[in-house]
Order: sequence, then C-alpha cells, then structure tokens
Amino acid sequence: MVIHALLAASLAMTSLPATTVEAKINCARVKCLALTFDDGPGATTPTLLKTLKKAGAKATFFVVGKRVEERPKIVAQAMAQGHAIGNHTYSHASLPTLLDDEILEELKTTQDAIQTATGQQPKIFRPPYGHTDDRVLGLAGETELAQVLWTGTTLDWQLRDAKKIKAAVLRLAQRDGVILMHDTVPATVQAMPGIVKELKKRGYHLVTVATLLNGKGPKSGVSYF
Ligand code: NI
Repeated sequence: MVIHALLAASLAMTSLPATTVEAKINCARVKCLALTFDDGPGATTPTLLKTLKKAGAKATFFVVGKRVEERPKIVAQAMAQGHAIGNHTYSHASLPTLLDDEILEELKTTQDAIQTATGQQPKIFRPPYGHTDDRVLGLAGETELAQVLWTGTTLDWQLRDAKKIKAAVLRLAQRDGVILMHDTVPATVQAMPGIVKELKKRGYHLVTVATLLNGKGPKSGVSYF
C-alpha cells in the first residue's frame, strides 16, 4: 500500500503538465517576455519546438486554420509542451476588408480546426498584418476571442538572416513585452537557440501571453498590447 502510494505520488509529480509549472511564474515579480510565432504550423515548426523544450521556454503560436488542418499533430505537440495556441484566421485574411459573416467564418473555422487538433478552443486571436478595427474586435468578442497584438515586431520575414533576427529580438526585448516572429521563417528558427540563451542570460522568463497577463486576461472582445 505504502509503495503504491509512493509510486502514485511520484507518477503524479512526473506527469505534471508543463503549463502547471509555468502557471507559478508571477510576472508581477519576475522579468517576463512573451515570444510569439505567427503563420504556422509549418515545416520548420518542429525544430523550433525542440529548441523551446530544451530551453524550458514557453511561447504562443498564432496558427493559420488551413495550415492546422494540414499539420494538426504539430499544433497538438505545441500545446502538449505547454505553449499557448491562438487563432490567426483560416486563410490569413486582412479582416477589415471582409464582410461580417466572412470575418466570423475566418475565425470560427480556425477555432474548429484547432479544437479538432488539440481538443481545446483558443481564447486569443491575432489579426493578420495587424489589420483590425472596432468591427473586427466586436466580431472576435462574439467568437469569445481576445485580440493580442505585440510590443515589438522583428520583421523576420524581411530580414531572413539569423544574426539580424537575433539582434532585432534583443533590441526589442523589454519587460512584459510581446515579440512578433514567424515559425515559418527558417532563419528565425535557426536563430532561436541563440536568442533564448541570451534572453535567459538577461534574466527573462519566457512565458505565454496568458502568463504575461497574470490573471488579468485574456478577456474576449478586449485588445491587448
Ligand atoms: Ni501572419
């Protein structure tokens, strides 16, 4: 009986999900930064997941619905590793140019794709190109989504150079910041081991957007950062 209890206790310890561990980080007390990756999942996403896992870093992935349907297992793996998943529309559309019904369709089909892949519906979305307005935000609220923008964008898709991307991230890094990158840009994935190493050296805890909000969100229909 005692042995069973001990075994059960040790199993419970080892099977604690990474998210539980991260939930203990209090960003009001320690220096936090949220790395966010848009437009995936893609061919280079698994390499990025390996880098983050090795570093014990958490991130937020804003995924494109049609790509989730192509690579559902990668999204499930990201969530299992304790990363947050957000909605980045189904077809990477510029939402303000669409009709209400089309915007809802973009958001809902992506919610469904993520639900199918991971068993959970995201609570956050990021509008492609950062194109948004009050109408988009209202419709996101109807879909029970909060809008998450960023404090710094690396323009990694333009730089396409690991050294330049690393320099951009380090320049943009600030306490409680949200950095926008793309897991579909190979140079970003290539730069990431060096980036996380340096950020940790500078005292940053790399957390999801939800952890950064520290219990004050995300609330649907609200825009953050
Ligand atoms: Ni995008």
